Amino acid sequence: MRTRVAIIGAGPAGLLLSQLLHDRGIDAVLLEARDREYCEHRQRAGMLEQATVDVLREAGAADRLDREGLVHHGIHLRYAGRDRHIDFPSRTGGRSVTVYGQTEIVKDLIAKRVAQGARMYFDAPVTAIEGIDGDAPRVRFLRDGVEEVLECDLVAGCDGFHGVSRGAIPADVLKTYERVHPFAWLGILADVAPSTDDLIYAHSERGFALHSMRSRAVSRLYLQVDPDADLADWPDERIWAELRERLALPGWTLDEGPIRERSITPMRSFVAEPMSFGRLFLAGDAAHIVPPTGAKGLNLAVADVRVLARACGEFFLAGSRAGLDGYSDACLRRVWRAEQFSSWMTTLLHARVDASGFDRRCQEAELAYVADSSAAMDSLAENYVGYTWAD
Ligand code: FAD
Ligand code: PHB
Repeated sequence: MRTRVAIIGAGPAGLLLSQLLHDRGIDAVLLEARDREYCEHRQRAGMLEQATVDVLREAGAADRLDREGLVHHGIHLRYAGRDRHIDFPSRTGGRSVTVYGQTEIVKDLIAKRVAQGARMYFDAPVTAIEGIDGDAPRVRFLRDGVEEVLECDLVAGCDGFHGVSRGAIPADVLKTYERVHPFAWLGILADVAPSTDDLIYAHSERGFALHSMRSRAVSRLYLQVDPDADLADWPDERIWAELRERLALPGWTLDEGPIRERSITPMRSFVAEPMSFGRLFLAGDAAHIVPPTGAKGLNLAVADVRVLARACGEFFLAGSRAGLDGYSDACLRRVWRAEQFSSWMTTLLHARVDASGFDRRCQEAELAYVADSSAAMDSLAENYVGYTWAD
């Protein structure tokens, strides 16, 4: 089998790249380890920056997003019985964010690519990537248990944090940076109308809680839990009781409903540099992970493939490698901004059992500063909607 770009992974990064390349007339084959059903139902992100919505529109994959996405003009910061609403448009020159599930983006992109007759293979795990330091890379994968080879000009490693692509970069070239945060998030999806207009980020001594949503009838909520927490120890009543405590505000009540799904996610900050080597280009979680507090992971994945698709266009249609050569640096500038913001939001809002009295008082002072200072709220808003550089 032969193609121009071998795309590994049918998460948001790989699927969107496949669409953006198709739109430029560049042939690609997408290989995904899991089945379609699994990819379409993996509950994850929900908060999209304006720039992410714009790319999905540019890719012609935003019809349902435009109909069903919930535009949000701010967030609530809640702590110590206070609630501060931070308005985005007035602080960011009119920008907002949109809630639309990652599951829905994946469904929309898969449906569109299938209708276009894309060469996209599910249940096709990649086992090896060879020859990326030459002109003719080869990707080995399994189909029905039989090994096949895909020959290509470029490889796009969009296979997430646990994929194989990153490992194809020689160890003496790849540098990784990591912080494992000492908490995890227990996330639930509940069939109940959200009890809030905008998302609530809440800090309490018992830990962090987040009230998000998926639609006017479905709530998405998260609780900070220990990294080794077990779902078996979290029956419904315990989850709701803890959410009530952590989100508490005088005069406000949390509506409860049947819990449809639940999972626990560890929290990690991670960056691999460079994001490319020879003819291999990493995009999305394959190259970097952020803790979900800043809602940046999916947005970074989309931003990466937008840069990569443009660079592929220059390479195949104009014969220039400049875009590909600048890919890693162009992405890493945005990645590190998001890493810093996500770590900061995480430290600001989570409770650490091992924190000293001094650290606790500093955290309280910082929460009060963010909720009081217009400059601090401007900074949070600017980063949350997606920081952009003037040049
Ligand atoms: P993935 O979605 O991980 O896709 C990678 C794909 O590659 C998978 O389908 C996998 O099966 C496949 N694959 C792996 N190995 C192989 C192989 N060997 N061969 C072939 N295929 C392979 N981000 C936000 O922007 N906003 C949010 O609000 C937000 N909230 C989040 C909440 C939670 C609880 C979690 C867990 C994450 C959240 N994120 C959020 C992060 C976001 O979900 C990820 O950053 C996003 O999924 C990255 O997309 P991706 O395409 O790079 O990787
Ligand atoms: C979500 O809706 O899943 C979500 C929203 C904001 C976050 C993280 C997750 O920071």
